[in-house]
Amino acid sequence: MVLGDVIKRWQLLKGNSNAIFLTGTDEHGIKIQQAAQEAGMDTQAFCDMNCKTFQDLARVANISNDHFIRTTDEAHKDAVRYFWESLQHRGYIYTKKHEGWYSVSDEAFYPQSQVEPSLDPATGRKRMISTETGKEVEWSSETNYHFRLSAFKDRLLEFYEQNPKFILSKNHMRHLVKTVGDDLQDLSISRPVERLTWGVRVPGDDSQTIYVWLDALINYLTKAGYPFTPGKESELGWPADLHIVGKDIVRFHCIYWPAFLMALDLPVPRHVLVHGHWTMNRAKMSKSTGNVVNPFFAIDRFSVDIMRFFLSLRGPLSDDSNYENGNIVNDYKKYLQYGLGNVYQRLMGVTKSKFYPSIDAAKNGFGHEATENDKEFEQWLQELPSVVERFMDAFNSKAALRELMDGAMKTQNYFHRAAPWEHKDDLARVDRVIYNVSEFLRISGILLQPFMPQKGSELLDRIGVSADASKRGFAAAKYGADYEYGIVEKPVDRRQFLFPPLMVED
Ligand SMILES: *[C@@H]1O[C@H](CO)[C@@H](O)[C@H](O)[C@H]1NC(C)=O
Ligand SMILES: *[C@@H]1O[C@H](CO)[C@@H](O)[C@H](O)[C@H]1NC(C)=O
Repeated sequence: MVLGDVIKRWQLLKGNSNAIFLTGTDEHGIKIQQAAQEAGMDTQAFCDMNCKTFQDLARVANISNDHFIRTTDEAHKDAVRYFWESLQHRGYIYTKKHEGWYSVSDEAFYPQSQVEPSLDPATGRKRMISTETGKEVEWSSETNYHFRLSAFKDRLLEFYEQNPKFILSKNHMRHLVKTVGDDLQDLSISRPVERLTWGVRVPGDDSQTIYVWLDALINYLTKAGYPFTPGKESELGWPADLHIVGKDIVRFHCIYWPAFLMALDLPVPRHVLVHGHWTMNRAKMSKSTGNVVNPFFAIDRFSVDIMRFFLSLRGPLSDDSNYENGNIVNDYKKYLQYGLGNVYQRLMGVTKSKFYPSIDAAKNGFGHEATENDKEFEQWLQELPSVVERFMDAFNSKAALRELMDGAMKTQNYFHRAAPWEHKDDLARVDRVIYNVSEFLRISGILLQPFMPQKGSELLDRIGVSADASKRGFAAAKYGADYEYGIVEKPVDRRQFLFPPLMVED
């Protein structure tokens, strides 16, 4: 959610006020049906409870989602039935006896070539598992509905070839092309009601329930206004520019989903960003072993912006990342407290919080020759916004944030070497340094807003940048774009640190 939110807020920063961010909960399927049973709860009540947790989490994490969809919403179920009937109408659905391996936990079917025997380490019981996910599979033999997935092999391969950035990861893309090229079989898209009641019934056949993934994927369309009024398909944002998915659900988003859409001649999403998982003690987080972080507690302990910062900086975009409280503390100290925070603190110290004259001086040129130190720094600072932009536009928010944090270090060095406190007799020289450091703070304050909405705007407030949106958007994040800041009506007491020492134990 944080990754999606940072990208959404980045679009707003760039002035794209139409950016739409959808998140939500996928609530159907055998896994949920079973979990509710185990909890001794009514299935809908169980879903309501879980959904509320995610809605609460979105709120406390300051997520700016425009919609929160639940796949149990009536409008969504209508969209699913309409989608099904359209596939049927076009002849892409047929019934067949299906025999094969099914994993309840993955909600996925696997061909014989993708399962293997294994021993359950806990019980010593012999069982079959999926080679890909290691999850137990069971033999299922039943008559149900199938989707003609195999008919889309060539179209999918052609689509991947023409859209090499469909998945924003070369490894996943390669794997995908191989999977589709090797063995693309038709897909079972329903289950008998005796096995699965918790879902949408197949239109016209009460004995079958729609396969949870066909149902779940359609959520993206529901909130884009599907079924579409002819001529208004793109009105609410379809096709999506980006789906953000965990690495365990790539096949559903990158094979099944485009094929379903192609079957109805609907546009396919432009990009899929695949992320890895957080681990703890290098093992998968798991509730049953207690190897898990409660995000509400973490936000309580460190604050929402620090958690957003940490997740963005360390979040697993390709491999998995290990979650450690020690890293949160260290990253905070290194990059925020002693990095960015220190740049701000020193600027306020050197100028006694009065740095507007240096900004004003910049407007008229300084009458001072740049030193090598100035030149190098100035050139770097002028390029910083476009470097950040390139990363963000490629959905690499992690690299963008890293660039800003390295920037704080660079600015510290520049400040230190320029040592304005040693040139008090050369005011023009001092002004130039003060100005350039101020510009770094202003530019990075603007660019940090998507990551840390509160801290980013607090920094801008503290250095007196107007609250006017035009002074805080991406267009203003440019050297010399604003000469009107630096006058702070009520300067914050210098001991009130922007990033105070953390009051938590490591
Ligand atoms: C630093 O100040 C000088 C003098 O105005 C200016 O030429 C230079 O571009 C500034 N650097 C940046 C990028 O802020
Ligand atoms: C949430 O984000 C908004 C900007 O969208 C910001 O003004 C606000 O302070 C943030 N809230 C918290 C609790 O950080």
